[in-house]
Amino acid sequence: MTRGLFITLEGPDGSGKSTIAPLVFAMLKDRGYDVILTREPGGVKIAEAIRSIILDPQNTAMDAKTEALLYAAARRQHLIEKIIPALNEGKIVLCERFVDSSLAYQGYGRQIGFDDIWTINKFAIADHMPDLTIYFDIDEKTGLERIRKNRTAIDRLDSESLHFHTLVHEGYKEVLRTFKERIRIVDASRSVDEVKESVFDAIRSFCDQRRS
Ligand SMILES: Nc1ncnc2c1ncn2[C@@H]1O[C@H](COP(=O)(O)OP(=O)(O)OP(=O)(O)O)[C@@H](O)[C@H]1O
Ligand SMILES: [Mg+2]
Repeated sequence: MTRGLFITLEGPDGSGKSTIAPLVFAMLKDRGYDVILTREPGGVKIAEAIRSIILDPQNTAMDAKTEALLYAAARRQHLIEKIIPALNEGKIVLCERFVDSSLAYQGYGRQIGFDDIWTINKFAIADHMPDLTIYFDIDEKTGLERIRKNRTAIDRLDSESLHFHTLVHEGYKEVLRTFKERIRIVDASRSVDEVKESVFDAIRSFCDQRRS
């Protein structure tokens, strides 16, 4: 059986990943691709439980390295229970966020450092890196304005300062430099329809190239 394709959607808060993911998932399914949609941190029961600890607004005492380890733990459980089995069945796995988010948020946002975050994540995921990553490119102010305008409940991470989000953007720039061959950048400041088409086109051309 051929191995499937592991595709991640990355980008800062409010860049539109959760809006676009189900739309692109439906487009791929309609065209006959065998695809599953999942997200981090979560995707399976144990990892969802870890997610709720991470995002709980009452957990103000959470240490940055504890948070980084929890993300890596949730990532591994999700990978083992859901992503690897689906890839072994030849499916396309479309996943919102993966290791690049930790490099940007924990490595830069929390200032733990890119190398330490890479080290703990290498332990968690071994060599199971995405085949393709779509990066939702948007400036931090636009992303945060979208969230504030459209959401009533704000979780612990949304309420971080603008400075934190600026650091996250710096982190993503480092991710883009480090992994440029794996990542396709999409301009996420456009309309939902335009972004959806660009993401779909990037995925379809990658899948078709792999198959030929
Ligand atoms: N292209 C777009 N144009 C305008 N508004 C958008 C667009 N895409 C998403 N939005 C709106 O912006 C808000 C944030 O979008 P979404 O939740 O999809 O972002 P996200 O990348 O998943 O963020 P997070 O990382 O915080 O989960 C939502 O209220 C959504 O309706
Ligand atoms: Mg989201």
